Amino acid sequence: MVHCHNVGMTTQAVPGRPSDVAVVDPNDPDPAVIERAAALLTAGGLVAFPTETVYGLGAHATDLDAIHAVFAGKGRPPTDPLIVHVADVDQVDSVVSQWPEAAQQLADQFWPGPLTMILPRSTSIPDAITAGRGTVAVRIPSHPVALAVLRAASVPIAAPSANRFGRISPTTAEHVVSELHGVFDLLLDGGPTPLGVESTVIDLSGELPILLRPGAVTLEELSEELGPLQYRERASSDESVDAAAPGQFLRHYSPRTPLVMVDGNGNGALVDELRAALVERGVDAAVVELPETADLAARQLYASLRALDSRGFELLLVAALAPHGLGRAVNDRVFRAAQGRVVLDASRSTLDHLHDIVGT
Ligand code: TXA
Ligand code: MG
Repeated sequence: MVHCHNVGMTTQAVPGRPSDVAVVDPNDPDPAVIERAAALLTAGGLVAFPTETVYGLGAHATDLDAIHAVFAGKGRPPTDPLIVHVADVDQVDSVVSQWPEAAQQLADQFWPGPLTMILPRSTSIPDAITAGRGTVAVRIPSHPVALAVLRAASVPIAAPSANRFGRISPTTAEHVVSELHGVFDLLLDGGPTPLGVESTVIDLSGELPILLRPGAVTLEELSEELGPLQYRERASSDESVDAAAPGQFLRHYSPRTPLVMVDGNGNGALVDELRAALVERGVDAAVVELPETADLAARQLYASLRALDSRGFELLLVAALAPHGLGRAVNDRVFRAAQGRVVLDASRSTLDHLHDIVGT
């Protein structure tokens, strides 16, 4: 049975698109619903759907009006390029102009899956997608709903995370509704996304591969395939500087409540000590509790941040995970949610510093 309704969950009435929601079985989506999503997409509509990482806001990649609606709906600056999603490796041909050996190797190993490759673009991909760059981001997602939509649409689909620019990526359909009601025509609700953080982004367009965004395909796995690759931990670029390194904006993934990353010795004990000391000073601080296992932490991170963000705390504290595997991806998102604020201890000067953050 197909379950479709007009969304009533939103707090603000945003005029715009109908924003229907269709609940689908994440492992075996109803073909009629998939057909409807694909028809909307090929006609220039916007369809939000689950991937194995986070929910995406999909649009026909070569339909300029649809692409502009994505940028406008997200409030995304035109300097931040989009990822093009395709159903299979054959379709990548229409998106890129070069297919190096390394790309084939990574595709064999990790596609479909949470890996995005940056490659020289084909001329069929509009400037609006690539922000005028000579490269394009492409990935084949593994989520059965995403794959079914891509196969049925049989055109490349641009799909940024389905959140407003600078906000936390959505890992449930409810998150998408609260971010983008009135922006999408249809949302496929396939339940919570299994991985919980965005895909790994690797740039294969230069001499040496560069890891731009850590994710569920880990640095260790990539190095095993490709040998050494560049990765600058806690890299950031100032968004006023025309996106020198897109996606490394510090304002990315931010809750509204000020957040601080705690990365000292024995983090678990340190965050609790910091919270207690802050509470003693009259600061209403809370700890974002995450499982120590990186894959569980990744799955819960964004939902936990959203939940605590709405509770009116003055400051949120998050302990860094061990910096390997998926822990690197979690730490990267926490660092950005913290807008680069990291504390290492519970000294008086650290507490003064945290007090100042709340005071401003
Ligand atoms: O997991 C994901 O990748 C999700 C799901 C929906 O597939 N999508 C996603 O898209 O996270 P978005 O737009 O939120 O993030 C795309 C990232 C951005 O950091 C963007 O700057 C970067 O990829 N990017 C896109 N094209 C690029 C290019 N040509 N060069 C460098 N970075 C690029
Ligand atoms: Mg995003």
